[in-house]
Amino acid sequence: MVGNALFTKGAYEKAVEAYSNALKKDPHNAFLLYFQGNALVKCKKITAAIKSYEKAIMDKFRGKLKYGNYNAPAAIAVLANLKIARNNSSIRYWVQDCSAATENILIAAVGLGLGAVWCGVHPIFIFEGRMRAVLGIPKNVTPLGVIQIGYPAEKKEPGTKYQESRVHWQKY
Ligand SMILES: Cc1cc2nc3c(=O)[nH]c(=O)nc-3n(C[C@H](O)[C@H](O)[C@H](O)COP(=O)(O)O)c2cc1C
Repeated sequence: MVGNALFTKGAYEKAVEAYSNALKKDPHNAFLLYFQGNALVKCKKITAAIKSYEKAIMDKFRGKLKYGNYNAPAAIAVLANLKIARNNSSIRYWVQDCSAATENILIAAVGLGLGAVWCGVHPIFIFEGRMRAVLGIPKNVTPLGVIQIGYPAEKKEPGTKYQESRVHWQKY
């Protein structure tokens, strides 16, 4: 990798340029973004370095979600920490609580003119483990899901799945 060779020589500015060129061909390569962040730190361009690191983490985790490989610039992981649950019912209802929080975030995002998608993590243990690894989430904290947030690429008409036959009055 040209960038790494330049970095090893101490040619950090040129390394940044080399990583940028490589990223033009492979914009979601988390390694390239991470290395570019390191080179930017050496150039004392800390804000730009943080941007590269943040993008590296985004690309790393979304690649681990089978149905969540979107190109959104931001994401919110909704997590449950049962150690700080206020009472027994908070422990038993954590999935519902985190789902309500997720839905509220989705609605708020749309209210701000953004696009958002709920990407499921729990109860797929493989996805939970991957999120823990990428985001450094401890074992006692469970990720319910990840909401990816960006600018909508298309405008969709609101739809409905309402079926009157499924609505029951007084008795099922
Ligand atoms: C628990 C849960 C997990 C979801 N996981 C994903 C996902 O991994 N990827 C995705 O594109 N959408 C995911 N969605 C969003 C759904 O695909 C769908 O967009 C959303 O439920 C709205 O459905 P509707 O447009 O058919 O009404 C998930 C939704 C829920 C409720």
